Amino acid sequence: MAVWDKRILWAVMLVLTGALGQRVNYPDPVCGIKGSTVTLPCSFNTLKSVKIIRVVWCKNHEICQRETPSVYDSSSNNNNPRYRYLGDKKGNCTLQISDLQKEDNATFHFRMEANDPRASFTGQSGVRVTVDQMEIRSSRDDGEFKRGEEVTLNCTAAICSIHQLEVSWFRDGSALSESGPTLHLSYLTAMDSGNYTCGLKKNKRTLSVPYSLHVEADEEGGGLPLIAGLVVGVLLVLFAVVLVVCIINRMRAAGQDQTAVGWDRGQQHSDNIYSNILLPPAEQQGPSSCGGSQLRVQFTHKKQARPAEEAEEPIYSSVARTG
Ligand SMILES: *[C@@H]1O[C@H](CO)[C@@H](O)[C@H](O)[C@H]1NC(C)=O
Ligand SMILES: *[C@@H]1O[C@H](CO)[C@@H](O)[C@H](O)[C@H]1NC(C)=O
Ligand SMILES: *[C@@H]1O[C@H](CO)[C@@H](O)[C@H](O)[C@H]1NC(C)=O
Repeated sequence: MAVWDKRILWAVMLVLTGALGQRVNYPDPVCGIKGSTVTLPCSFNTLKSVKIIRVVWCKNHEICQRETPSVYDSSSNNNNPRYRYLGDKKGNCTLQISDLQKEDNATFHFRMEANDPRASFTGQSGVRVTVDQMEIRSSRDDGEFKRGEEVTLNCTAAICSIHQLEVSWFRDGSALSESGPTLHLSYLTAMDSGNYTCGLKKNKRTLSVPYSLHVEADEEGGGLPLIAGLVVGVLLVLFAVVLVVCIINRMRAAGQDQTAVGWDRGQQHSDNIYSNILLPPAEQQGPSSCGGSQLRVQFTHKKQARPAEEAEEPIYSSVARTG
């Protein structure tokens, strides 16, 4: 056979094989979380008459020829271990990528090289790999919270749809017990402050970017008012005790002194108890028995709110007498 005939025959064969399916079957676009492992299922058809001697995966290059940097090359000894060829040289070109990285956000192509260079072939459509990252979405825009507030954090992928979302939650790197995609924190305290991350439970490398949550420290939010409240409470109790002792003493005194009570009834605007308390009989009981000065201040204040001016007069005078 003449050289020309051979060439024509080859050309015809190539056209035929191309048409008959010398081809690479890529999967649909693959979406994976950064840090996870994705598999690109792939198969290829070739001619029975040729032998595949080399298989190559490359990224962002349409034909993966010769010097094109590859991510996997069957004839190389130092392939990046992140890229594992699970296929063979007969029809399976499956590639597995582990610890998915940003640089894998690319289109990958498979090339097979035959013992006859003219039967070598690259599947040109390629497979699109999208690298996504887990992220925390908060029910609140900022991470600043007051004590007692609540927040809901959602762990999701930004682009990929992940069906079975088993996630782990971490605060400052320590695992929390929650494992659902939602973390609800109610009644926040300063102890809840920290950097929250989440990731797929099966893969620790898929951690999200941290969400920084800060709960106002107790000095402003709870501690000081608590102490102030206690002090006020104790003072109130002491005051009440003094008051009760006083009331009892005064009532006893009033019961003994009829003229004093009568004088009290003359004040039609006054409250009975107050006027009883304020009844002056300084002659019978010394001012010391009631801790007089405190009471005086208290009751004159109360009286000031009252409209009946003339009712104040006797009280002031009585107070003056007490002192
Ligand atoms: C290709 O190989 C992978 C890994 O060994 C396997 O899971 C897959 O089923 C194979 N594909 C075909 C079409 O045989
Ligand atoms: C991945 O590639 C797409 C398309 O080229 C681009 O829109 C996207 O921003 C890339 N993502 C990352 C994380 O680089
Ligand atoms: C949280 O992260 C920020 C910045 O990433 C850092 O400044 C801060 O110290 C971290 N907080 C904790 C509690 O680790």
